[in-house]
Amino acid sequence: MIIKTAVDIPSSEITSHSAYLNRRKFMQQSGLALAAMGLSSAASSLESHEGQPPRFGPDWLSQQVAGATETPFGKGEKLTPYRDVTSYNNFYEFGTGKDDPARNAGSLITDPWSVTVEGECETQGSFNLEDILKSMPLEERIYRLRCVEAWSMVIPWIGFPLADLIKRFKPLSSAKYVEFTTLEAPKQMIGQRSRFSTIDWPYVEALRIDEAMNPLTLMAVGLYGEVLPKQNGAPLRLVIPWKYGFKSIKSIVKIRFTETPPINTWQAIAPREYGFYANVNPEVSHPRWSQAKERRLPSGLFSANRIETQMFNGYGEQVAHLYKGMDLRKNY
Ligand code: MTE
Repeated sequence: MIIKTAVDIPSSEITSHSAYLNRRKFMQQSGLALAAMGLSSAASSLESHEGQPPRFGPDWLSQQVAGATETPFGKGEKLTPYRDVTSYNNFYEFGTGKDDPARNAGSLITDPWSVTVEGECETQGSFNLEDILKSMPLEERIYRLRCVEAWSMVIPWIGFPLADLIKRFKPLSSAKYVEFTTLEAPKQMIGQRSRFSTIDWPYVEALRIDEAMNPLTLMAVGLYGEVLPKQNGAPLRLVIPWKYGFKSIKSIVKIRFTETPPINTWQAIAPREYGFYANVNPEVSHPRWSQAKERRLPSGLFSANRIETQMFNGYGEQVAHLYKGMDLRKNY
C-alpha cells in the first residue's frame, strides 16, 4: 500500500466555540422535536458535526439514516472530526492521495444502486438498495478504524449488522466464505482509468462466514448522522472494526458465497504484506513497518497523537474466539 506523509490539521479546522454552541442549540431543538414524536435520534454523531449536514443520497435514504437509533457501541470515545473522516480517505478508485477521493468521488453515481447476490446461497439475484434496506432497522455505532498504514480514526457509523442481510439470502452449508466486490466503472472512477494503477479492478474483499456473521460486522450506509459521503464508500460499505481498514470494502455491488477462500485485492498484489485475515495485531509487524503504535487523527507535525495499538483493535472480547488455536503470525 502506498504510504503518504501525514497531513497536518491546522487548528482553524477544529470546531470553533460558536459553531459548537450553534450545534448544541440545533441538537436540543431537534432532540425536543424527536422526543415529541417518540423517536430516538443518532444524537451523539451530530454532537461533533461541523455546520449543517450536507445531503448526499435520495430523500428516502436520508430519512431512514436520520431515524437511526443510538447504541452503546463506542459511547464516550472521542470522535475524529467530521472533516478528517471525510477528507483523509483511502479509495483508490478515485486516486491514491488521501485527499483524492474527496476531490474526485463526485462523479460516482450512487442512485439507483443494486447489489447482485450469487454463489452458495438459496436466494440469489439482483436487489436494489431500497429492497435491501426495507425493514432493516438502522443503528449508530461508534467504532475505531485502524488502517494498515498505522493511522486510525473513531467514526460514528450508521448501518445494520451484516448478519441480518446474510440470513435473508439463506447461505447453504457449503458457504464457508463471503466475497464482496466494489463497483467497476472507469467512466465514473478516475483511478480505474489510470494507466499506473497496480490494482486489477474491481476491488475485492472477503470474510470467513463466521466473521461475516459476527455481530460486530456492520454494513454501513451513513456516518455522522447522514448518508455516507461518496469518498467514504457510498452507498453501501462494510465496516469490520477489528481488522485493518482495507477489509472494509466500499461501494459494494456484489456479494458471493463461496466454498473456497477468495483472493482479496491486496493479497493478490502483495501476499507477503497483506494476508486474508488482516486482524489488527500490534505484535505482528508489517514487513516494512511496525504495527505497535498508530497515529490517531487528527494529528499534525507537532502533535503526532501516537497511541498504542490494541490487539484486535480493542475488540478481542467479541472476536478472539474466532481465531482460537490459530497461529496469527502465519495467518496475518
Ligand atoms: N474499498 C475500495 N473499494 N477501495 C479502496 O481503495 N480502501 C480501504 C477501505 N476500503 C479501499 C476500500 C482502506 S485501505 C481503508 S483504510 C478504508 O477503506 C478507509 O476508509 P475511509 O476512507 O472511509 O476512512
